[in-house]
Amino acid sequence: MITEVLVLLVLFALLIKASIRPSNFPPGPRGLPLVGYIPFLSKLDPEYPHLALKKLSDHYGPVAGFYLGPSQPFISVCGYRAVREALYNEDLAGRPSNAARRERTFGQRLGVIHNDGPEWQEQRRFALRHLRDLGFGRTSSEGLIREEIEDLTQEIRAHQLAHGSVDLKGLFNLSLINILWALVGGERFRRDDTRLAHLLDIVDNFVRSADFTRANIPVPDFCLRYFPSLTRKLLGLRNDLFTPLQDFIRERIREHAKDRSEDHPRDFIDVYLQEMSKRQSTDSSFHENQLIGVIIDFFIAGAETTSGSIGFALLYLLHNPDIQRQIQTELDQVCGDSLPQLAHRPSLPYTEAALMEAQRLSNITPLAVAHKALRDTQLGGYSIPRGSIVTVNLFTVHHDDESFWQDPEIFRPERHLSPDGRKLIKTDHLLPFSAGKRACLGEPLARNTYFLFTASLLKVFEFHPLPDRPLPTLKPKNGLTLSYDGFEAMVTPRS
Ligand code: HEM
Repeated sequence: MITEVLVLLVLFALLIKASIRPSNFPPGPRGLPLVGYIPFLSKLDPEYPHLALKKLSDHYGPVAGFYLGPSQPFISVCGYRAVREALYNEDLAGRPSNAARRERTFGQRLGVIHNDGPEWQEQRRFALRHLRDLGFGRTSSEGLIREEIEDLTQEIRAHQLAHGSVDLKGLFNLSLINILWALVGGERFRRDDTRLAHLLDIVDNFVRSADFTRANIPVPDFCLRYFPSLTRKLLGLRNDLFTPLQDFIRERIREHAKDRSEDHPRDFIDVYLQEMSKRQSTDSSFHENQLIGVIIDFFIAGAETTSGSIGFALLYLLHNPDIQRQIQTELDQVCGDSLPQLAHRPSLPYTEAALMEAQRLSNITPLAVAHKALRDTQLGGYSIPRGSIVTVNLFTVHHDDESFWQDPEIFRPERHLSPDGRKLIKTDHLLPFSAGKRACLGEPLARNTYFLFTASLLKVFEFHPLPDRPLPTLKPKNGLTLSYDGFEAMVTPRS
């Protein structure tokens, strides 16, 4: 009897708690006492969390709030104005952490993406500075990217010859992982190296294993400890996949440690090891596990996103053959017989505009990475409690802000050009790399790689749909990022 009364009292207390919102909390739906609003989110859109959250904001306004579990406030931010306000509010530059995310990095909070505070600042600054010195996003890495493009074009030719068409799924991933690993570990794998294929599988399976909302469900640490498979099933996050990747990176770090020279660092691992030996105090944030975490983050954040952007751009151009031809005419006029180079970029406004348009429509990262309120703060006139998870809906800036884009559904490169078509118009309504303190760390490399790969492939090949088949779908596949569904195309050499 006493137990029943106690259970009823607890349920009653939870019910009361669920119905109380902190004062001036953003408007939003109420959920159930224990689980908050989680069970209802997928009803708004079963497939895409960014569309579910957009529906919420259509009803409640650009800043909407609800509870994920009994005590986790969740703030959804939509539309240009509110998104910018959130991204430039430093109080919202934290990252939520949970046991599942920490599993990726040995149960500790390490790396860049899911870290915050002074440790994140130190690691992010270090990575930015040294990747830049190693040629990240500069013309000095152009040769490296070009070698990958040459290998890729050969592979595409071989595929077309052997099969009469080319399956464009996963082809670019291999090149992207290779570029990242060359900067980080100083080594280029052959495209048929099984170790490379294995790295790729791990990253791909991880990114497709979860979606944004499920990954943020606040599951207590003990659930993961005592019911690992059940918890992974619920969250979708397959962090266990990382063990072989961690082992692979650790082995390379140990090899580097044996033969590195203090005066001539060859790659990111060498400069990091140099920093570790400079700071040997126990409270230094530079240690081997941290380095593994940082490298894993480069892979998760860098490979799928860039290769997905290239794949989507080609897919949109398959759907828009006139635009493909116009790009090729511009490339022929500006680059002559050579392949496009970074130095050609300012003279290729139409090509640049088409690539921007493909990024706007494909929305590889429609919800950025979840942010967290580091302290009590204000957003859109509402009070945001410390610890709130904040989702920044980039999709709604790119796709839905009808007063700015007017016809957001249409693929129209001209919207990024001056009326005479000669100048590129840059706008802060296009935020594929997000903005503010948490903006993408790999943006310079990603921009160059996206441009060089897509422009080079279009200079060398024409891409056509398979005859007598419907055009491949533009509908993205869901996951931690959006990706294109693999598609086949007729790829014919130009000239
Ligand atoms: C087209 C390709 C890419 C796109 C669209 C993209 C987009 C993004 C976005 C939207 C974020 C989240 C920003 C936020 O939370 O507000 C992000 C974070 C990040 N990106 Fe990228 N990214 C790309 C390529 C890369 C590459 C090549 C790297 C390689 C190192 C990289 C490394 C990172 C890292 C480490 C973060 C976390 C930054 C932090 O939390 O401080 N990204 N990216």
